[in-house]
Amino acid sequence: MSDQAATAAKPAPILSRHDPRYEVTMYRYVGVEGAHTLDFYRSHGGYEAAKKALTGMTPAQVIDEVKASGLRGRGGAGFPTGVKWSFMAPPDGKPRYLVCNADESEPGSFKDRYILEDDPHQLVEGMIIGAYAMQMTFGFLYVRGEYYLGTTRMEAAIAEARAAGLLGENILGTNFSFDITVHRGAGAYICGEETALMNSLEGLRANPRLKPPFPAAAGMYGRPTTINNVTSLTSAVHIIDKGAAWFAGMGTDDSKGTKLYQISGPVKRTGVYEMPMGATFRELIYDFAGGPTMEPKAFIPGGSSTPMFPWEDRFLDMPMDYGTLAKNGSMLGTGGVIVIPRDKCIVDALYNLVRFYAHESCGKCTPCREGVGHWLPRMYQKLVSGLGQPEDIALLESVASNIKSNAFCPLADACIGPVQASLKWFRDEYEYLAANGKSKYPKNDWWQA
Ligand SMILES: Cc1cc2nc3c(=O)[nH]c(=O)nc-3n(C[C@H](O)[C@H](O)[C@H](O)COP(=O)(O)O)c2cc1C
Repeated sequence: MSDQAATAAKPAPILSRHDPRYEVTMYRYVGVEGAHTLDFYRSHGGYEAAKKALTGMTPAQVIDEVKASGLRGRGGAGFPTGVKWSFMAPPDGKPRYLVCNADESEPGSFKDRYILEDDPHQLVEGMIIGAYAMQMTFGFLYVRGEYYLGTTRMEAAIAEARAAGLLGENILGTNFSFDITVHRGAGAYICGEETALMNSLEGLRANPRLKPPFPAAAGMYGRPTTINNVTSLTSAVHIIDKGAAWFAGMGTDDSKGTKLYQISGPVKRTGVYEMPMGATFRELIYDFAGGPTMEPKAFIPGGSSTPMFPWEDRFLDMPMDYGTLAKNGSMLGTGGVIVIPRDKCIVDALYNLVRFYAHESCGKCTPCREGVGHWLPRMYQKLVSGLGQPEDIALLESVASNIKSNAFCPLADACIGPVQASLKWFRDEYEYLAANGKSKYPKNDWWQA
């Protein structure tokens, strides 16, 4: 086949909601009255994908399908889900665990929440599929402590599913047995880090664990464990339902399928939007969210831990996928876009963010405990209160670069990346503040309005 013919035969990927092939799947029933019940879910095709997997596919076939779909973990790091599933050692008759990470504590991220609240059976079904693929004996759903309604709805859905033979012994009449326990966190960002999460689940202090061993080898109680984000698991439902080719037909070369993007800050319609991967920031911000309501100067692309971009066409027109963001010095993260208005002092914005990371640092390692927990918030406090000196900026840079890549877990870098990006793009605001003792953009009360 000639190169031209090969290109012609390959279907064009769906990049935008303006493509008629674009279809909302994970979020189609979010916001629909009564969608959280088993009756509703089943009457809309619910649990058919689980049935298809459990009665018509081998566990290895399910893993191959997820691999072929190109799904990458939606929790932030973007590791290929099917590959992760294939890391689990073969069953040895002893317990092995699936953990669903519903901790969702990163500022700017709120996509998982509405699945827990409005479509909990979709997640139960995703967990059944994942558990079957990896032959898990038990599942844990680790929910952020503040998600009270989500927790209640998940508990009710699990009880309904159990009563209907969808959880427990011999699911759907097969010889596969699996059940889920819900565990509420107390609302700590570090509990979203997978090894800290396992410690928390085991009743220990939520400090991260050294890797290796990786959870697939030794996770919960030292047994093989896989940890997945809520929307990695719900994506698997649609991959099994519609096939890997359907999912892989959307997106870009390195990022397939649809993803839930979140948008907050001063825009007309903040919220969660399901879009094919590779759609642009401009589409999300203008077409979906109705555009900014104040003159913007920057945006955070993927949740508070991802380095910001200035408000320029080249960044607004950037496709939202893992590879493009990495190439441009940032990360897709959770896909939580935050718009920053011109009149918000960037140093003050970063002070707010740094205080969050300082508060959430678990204190296990020195760079994070001392650097993120003490030095950074104090240096920002000095600057925003007008007591900074021009040389403080160089000191801030030096502290940041000494913390970077030196901490035990990614929480410290999650703070440093945004600090460094703000210095790269908005250094003039730091300099003005340090030289004049007051911000270029003084605090006012429109922010609360
Ligand atoms: C500080 C920190 C917080 C995290 N919080 C979450 C979270 O709330 N939810 C989540 O799915 N992943 C979170 N992650 C990523 C997880 O450690 C892990 O990579 C993810 O749950 C894996 O699921 P996935 O492969 O389906 O993406 C966090 C990571 C770090 C370092």
